[in-house]
Amino acid sequence: MDLAIMGTGTVGSSVAELAADYGHRVTGMANVASAAIDPTGIDVKAALDRQNIEGEAALGDADPDAVLDADYDALVEVTPVTLGDAQPGFGHVRAALERDRHVVLANKGPMAERFADVRDLERASEGEVRFEATVAGAIPVLSTIEDYSPATIQAARGVLNGTANFILSRMAAEGLGYDHVLAEAQDLGVAETDPAFDVEGTDAALKCVILANVLAECERTYTLDDATVEGIKSVPGSALDLASEDGRTIRLIGEVVDGEVRVGPRLVPEHSELAVTGTTNIVQLDTDNAGRLNLSGRGAGGPETASAILADVERLPN
Ligand code: HSE
Repeated sequence: MDLAIMGTGTVGSSVAELAADYGHRVTGMANVASAAIDPTGIDVKAALDRQNIEGEAALGDADPDAVLDADYDALVEVTPVTLGDAQPGFGHVRAALERDRHVVLANKGPMAERFADVRDLERASEGEVRFEATVAGAIPVLSTIEDYSPATIQAARGVLNGTANFILSRMAAEGLGYDHVLAEAQDLGVAETDPAFDVEGTDAALKCVILANVLAECERTYTLDDATVEGIKSVPGSALDLASEDGRTIRLIGEVVDGEVRVGPRLVPEHSELAVTGTTNIVQLDTDNAGRLNLSGRGAGGPETASAILADVERLPN
C-alpha cells in the first residue's frame, strides 16, 4: 500500500524505516507539530532516502495539507496526543476519510476523545479506521478483542504505561528517588513528549477509554471525562518498601470493569502476572468462555509501535 504519514517523531520515523520490509511504500510525510517533538534524533530524511523516496514530501517537513491531498491508500496518524477536540489528529482522520482513504492511528486522542465522531466519519467513507497501536504498543490487544468478539469479554485490566511502570519497578528494586528514575525513563525514549501524561495516569487512562469504547461496541462511548484517574507521583518510596515486606508491590493499574474506567496505583502480589517490570505492559482480558487471557510485551517504542501500525495496514482491505 501507499502510505502517507502525519508525524515525524519516534513512531513516524520507525514506520518510514520499516514500511518497505512489509512491502509498503511511503509517499508522503509531514512534520505537523515541530522538529522539537522528535526526541530520538532519528534522521527522517535518511530513513526515507533509504527507500529511494523522492520529492518534497520525503523531507518530512512537507505541508500537511499537501500530504493529505496527495495520492495514498492509507493515512498513518502518529502526531502527538492531544485532549478535548483531539486536534490536529482528528482533522487528519477526517480529511483522509472524506477522501475515502484508510486511516491507521497510534495517536490516542481521536479514538479516546472523539470515538463517536470517528465512527460516524468511517460509516460515511469507503475508508476503514484501525488503531491497534493506540493500546499497549506492540501487543495485539484490540485484534484479540476483535477475534474473540467484544461481547464475550467482561473486563480488561493491566499495566498500560511503560514509563510509570519503569519508574515504580526501579524505585522498588533499587531504592532510587522518583526524579532520578523519571530522567532515566525519558532517556529510554518511551515517555510521552510531555511526561506528565505518563506519571499522572493520563496516558494509561486514554488507553483504557479506548478499550472501553471497543468493548462497548458503540452502545455508548467514553471519553477521558468518564475515567477516574490517579497517577504515581504521590507514591512514596516508603510505600513500596512496606508493600515489599508484605510480598507485594505497587503498579499503576488501568481497568475497564462493569462499564467503569479507572486508573491508579494498586497493591499487587509480587509474583502476580500484573507485577511486570521495566517498560513491559500487560493486559488481562476476562472472557466468558476462555477464562483469563494475559497479553504482555513491549507497550511502547518506535519499532514496536510501528510493527503494530504495519500489522494494521496488513489487515486493511485492498
Ligand atoms: N508513554 C507511553 C508509555 C508510550 O510510557 O507507555 C506508549 O503510549
